[in-house]
Amino acid sequence: MFRTLLLRCDSAAISFSSTNHDLPLIACQKTSAALASAARLLNQLQLVAFPTETVYGLGAHALSPQALAAIFSTKGRPADNPLIVHVSSLPMLHSLLPKAYSLSPAYQALIKHFWPGPLTLLFPRDPNIIPDIVTAGQPSVAIRFPSHPVARALIAVANCPLAAPSANSSGKPSPTKAEHVLHDLNTKVPLILDGGSCDVGLESTVVDGLHADGNIRVLRPGGITVEDIERVLTLELTPDNTCRVLVHKRDYKDQAIEHAPTTPGMKYRHYSPSVPVTLLHTSTPPPPGLHAFSVPSFISTLRMPGGIKSKVGVLAPVDSRLWESINLEEKVQWHKYPLGSIAQPSVTAQRLFDGLLTLEQEGVDLILIEEISEEREGLAVMNRVRKAAGESKWIAFQ
Ligand code: TXA
Ligand code: MG
Repeated sequence: MFRTLLLRCDSAAISFSSTNHDLPLIACQKTSAALASAARLLNQLQLVAFPTETVYGLGAHALSPQALAAIFSTKGRPADNPLIVHVSSLPMLHSLLPKAYSLSPAYQALIKHFWPGPLTLLFPRDPNIIPDIVTAGQPSVAIRFPSHPVARALIAVANCPLAAPSANSSGKPSPTKAEHVLHDLNTKVPLILDGGSCDVGLESTVVDGLHADGNIRVLRPGGITVEDIERVLTLELTPDNTCRVLVHKRDYKDQAIEHAPTTPGMKYRHYSPSVPVTLLHTSTPPPPGLHAFSVPSFISTLRMPGGIKSKVGVLAPVDSRLWESINLEEKVQWHKYPLGSIAQPSVTAQRLFDGLLTLEQEGVDLILIEEISEEREGLAVMNRVRKAAGESKWIAFQ
């Protein structure tokens, strides 16, 4: 049990110069002191929750099995779910890799364009450097270089790589605000650094470029879109180095992955608030044998007997047709949380987890999430929504 401390860090006061090995310059005394306290705790092998550009992470010294074990017990995380290691410089990356390893042209291009940023790459693991518990026995280790000034500065000041899963109890939506972490992990961690809301709002894209065929496999869609990865590889790779970008489940299936937890949500429940979630398909037709409801007939299924109003949370694009239909229905108490516009899936990504956690805290009985198109950030959004939703319904607008 801890008295969890919440310390505010001002991202705007942190800057980096490439001449001093990526050590941060910190222009705010409070931020500097908060980072120093966090770094001290990490070097004492304790946990610290901190903001990244994707979601808040629960950090531990990545080379200490004792510190890493605390991540698994604090989150209630199954031991076979591997962790991502976070670095704050390319020299730190290379210190973690096998001596004889050199980056492929595709990895060089991805690192050049997307690091620091929300992209995680798999690398071969040197078992003399990376503890077993990080990779859950996998032959590869997942590494990323976050762009959030607080995350970067924390790793640099602590001077050690940090293993960090999302800072939530296993199975819950990932936190995108310090308050979300406090609500979930209060008394379980000594310190939370508060850097405000996360810009991306969904976790990093996890990419495996280690296959002999040279292709890039997207294991988890995330902050960097598949379209951006394709654009950069087309731009940077010479004709003899070209490769394909394959999205797991969309472009290929892999029995081994399906049965191992290396793709989040495959084996374990993920992103689920304690309230049931229904995915509403409003633009794709139902599979054979299922029918589409009209909006009024669907809403009538939400009414409780005896005149009690059910409390229903709704997450849908701000310009969705759904809003005008539900506004007409007064027998349900609606809790509305508009996402980004249909044309702005990045805003929907940024708001999704906050929406789920906000509606859960408002005490709704059910959360409805409207589907969005699986393009750009929409691919990652729908990946999380499918895993959060216990059931799907199809709606036909009249
Ligand atoms: O944006 C993010 O990636 C956030 C922030 C905190 O950096 N972290 C995060 O970690 O989402 P987590 O633990 O919630 O998700 C890590 C996922 C694992 O569930 C697994 O699917 C994949 O990354 N992963 C990690 N190591 C792997 C490996 N060696 N092989 C395949 N997948 C791996
Ligand atoms: Mg997670």
